[in-house]
Amino acid sequence: MNYKKYWRKTSLKQKDIGNLFLNEISKSSPKNFLEIGIFQGVTARNICELLYKIHKDNFRYIGIDIFNYDEKSKHEVIPNVNFKNPLKQFYYRYIKRENPYSLTSVRKLLKKFEQNIEIIKGDSNKILPNIDLSNVDYVFLDGGHSYETVKNDLNNCKIVINNNGIVLCDDYNLSYAPGVKKAIDEFSSNKQYEIKILFERFARIKKK
Ligand SMILES: C[S@@+](CC[C@H](N)C(=O)[O-])C[C@H]1O[C@@H](n2cnc3c(N)ncnc32)[C@H](O)[C@@H]1O
Repeated sequence: MNYKKYWRKTSLKQKDIGNLFLNEISKSSPKNFLEIGIFQGVTARNICELLYKIHKDNFRYIGIDIFNYDEKSKHEVIPNVNFKNPLKQFYYRYIKRENPYSLTSVRKLLKKFEQNIEIIKGDSNKILPNIDLSNVDYVFLDGGHSYETVKNDLNNCKIVINNNGIVLCDDYNLSYAPGVKKAIDEFSSNKQYEIKILFERFARIKKK
């Protein structure tokens, strides 16, 4: 399946990385997917399309995002929400009159799958401890990029790995967010876990 961009911004923008990502996910055919850090929903939509192709209506997607860049989230790395392409900027601002980095807009993009999805607006540090992850078999961890947040997210997702699921972390080697690598390395020093770096970018963590 080809990764599509839906005329939005995504962190999987480099050539072929989206396809490699979808290919990696399809290898384990997850049924209950969690994405931490949805941004404009492009990866969310691609994942839903992929899971629909594999399981028809028999899948769940849960996504979490703060959908807000304010003082409280200053320590996180938030992608630039402005489009480089002035046409896109114009289209969203004056024609669609919609902020693509918002709960409402992402819900619209995922409307086709509304029976299968749950989109939660909030800080993963606070949300994750209160949601049941016992059925989740795949996590794409791409939310807050500070050391503390990645550490908390990983600890909160331990149950997924212990139940033989996978946590795929983005931006393992991002020079301007060194806390990501630090938190992942610390977490995966647990001898029961296996960590593999994929495409010089993702850290895949699973049980040995
Ligand atoms: C790199 S972007 C995610 C990109 C998206 N996964 C994609 O493939 O296009 C990171 C996202 O994490 C969100 N975020 C940052 N800190 C967060 C936190 N503590 N809890 C939840 N979401 C957070 C930001 O709002 C941003 O949308």
